[in-house]
Amino acid sequence: MAAETYNRDDLIIRKAGEDDLPALVDFQVKLALHVAGPPAQKLKKKERKRLLEILAAALIDNDKLLVVAELPNAGLVGMAYLYIWRSQGIWEQAGDHVFKSGIIDDIWVEPDFRKLGIFSAMLTQLIAFAEKRGVPELILEYAISNKEADATWKRLGFQVTGVRAAAFTSVVKEKLDAGT
Ligand SMILES: CC(C)(COP(=O)(O)OP(=O)(O)OC[C@H]1O[C@@H](n2cnc3c(N)ncnc32)[C@H](O)[C@@H]1OP(=O)(O)O)[C@@H](O)C(=O)NCCC(=O)NCCS
Repeated sequence: MAAETYNRDDLIIRKAGEDDLPALVDFQVKLALHVAGPPAQKLKKKERKRLLEILAAALIDNDKLLVVAELPNAGLVGMAYLYIWRSQGIWEQAGDHVFKSGIIDDIWVEPDFRKLGIFSAMLTQLIAFAEKRGVPELILEYAISNKEADATWKRLGFQVTGVRAAAFTSVVKEKLDAGT
């Protein structure tokens, strides 16, 4: 089934189950390769097992929601994950208040099914889950080079609140040496 024949009414967004896990690890691999870029690489068996275990644990954790998007003639076409992160305020003024954030991770929609609103449909369920648990904010990380993600998140109201920077040790050393 190609995107041209996609019918929104056929789309099922549901909580992931045990049987979905192998396909979800395949999505995670595609996502990692999408972010890293070429060359294509193969996941270690040991890592596949570890990812399967992490996803299986998420299925039975009340603070975690793993959803999948499914189409009758195409099978699974996407996944999305949210977990609740709790932090105790560090300031006296905050008292015993516990701050809650919804961390979004492992977002993938199969390339043939993008820009059809499938991710938005999954996000709607993640938000309902977060709201039910009194979570007022959503947080996620993405690579600046990931243009699709950048466009999608900005469109949905996410604003960049921090920057992760990286440099080769040799370059930093060179700069330091040049300044001395
Ligand atoms: C990012 C991704 C999940 C979006 O999924 P999707 O199902 O295509 O998204 P939707 O169709 O629900 O679109 C959501 C919004 O983002 C916008 N959008 C989606 N892809 C876009 C793109 N490539 N360029 C510009 N805007 C885009 C849509 O227009 C929509 O806004 P609108 O409702 O105002 O039109 C999908 O492109 C993907 O899987 N990318 C590769 C994996 C990835 O980058 N994951 C995120 C890592 S943090």
